[in-house]
Amino acid sequence: MVAERPKVIAVCGKGGVGKTSISALITKVLIAEGKKRILAIDADPAVGFASALGIKVGRTVTDIRNEVIEKSKVDRSDKKAILAKIDYQVFEAMIEKDGYAFLAIGRPETDGCYCRVNTYLKTIIEAMVLNFDYVIIDGEAGIEQVNRRVMEEVSHLLLVSDCSYKGINVIKTINEVAASGVMKYERAGVLLNRLKDDRETELVDLEPLELLGAMLDDDMIRSFDIQDRPLLELPFNQSCEKIKEVLIKFDVL
Ligand SMILES: Nc1ncnc2c1ncn2[C@@H]1O[C@H](COP(=O)(O)OP(=O)(O)OP(=O)(O)O)[C@@H](O)[C@H]1O
Ligand SMILES: [Mg+2]
Repeated sequence: MVAERPKVIAVCGKGGVGKTSISALITKVLIAEGKKRILAIDADPAVGFASALGIKVGRTVTDIRNEVIEKSKVDRSDKKAILAKIDYQVFEAMIEKDGYAFLAIGRPETDGCYCRVNTYLKTIIEAMVLNFDYVIIDGEAGIEQVNRRVMEEVSHLLLVSDCSYKGINVIKTINEVAASGVMKYERAGVLLNRLKDDRETELVDLEPLELLGAMLDDDMIRSFDIQDRPLLELPFNQSCEKIKEVLIKFDVL
């Protein structure tokens, strides 16, 4: 029997539109729906996803990468042996929580070409992801996530925007770049966030993108933000219901 491939959701959009909050709420809804084998990947160097989940970041994939590069500079003879240990190290860097696992990527690549290590790390992450049913990737703002993607292939590209012209423009560009073959994906859809009321969806032109749903500006999210409380602890309110609806419409649930 061939194992079903995991559903890999990459959350993309302009800076500050709510990617991290939505990634945390997706994690929360999947857990609440009784889903197991969930992996949350923080691909933003600012590691906001970790705080939204209430996690203290330890080692990141980039820390591992940098150590490998440093080691191979000192010990040029033993590259193979050093590389062979990376998958174990990435596995160790994963934090197991109640109901899900977490991995932080860290800072994007710095100068110099260490393609072999980078390619190898991508392969490791791609292999690791196969142990999960659901993977949520919270990325950097804008087109960066597509350019410096963690994986070559995702199943769901969740494009998040507020109703601003700039926000919509960014998700359209991300979609165009991804669709040009830069990133493989099966489905793309839009989640509008921080609306004053549902009628605002009629004011924006999303063509040719599919609207999956719209989330209102939520006082509870705001208050959690002020108190720096992890969104994973949010009561299952209307925003969580909305995320659930979107996940159903997106064939994730
Ligand atoms: N529906 C909402 N209602 C109220 N506040 C929200 C909502 N969604 C997000 N926010 C707030 O908006 C701010 C930005 O959200 P968030 O950090 O999730 O965005 P982001 O897209 O991940 O930002 P960045 O590009 O900096 O990573 C935060 O203060 C968050 O609490
Ligand atoms: Mg963020």
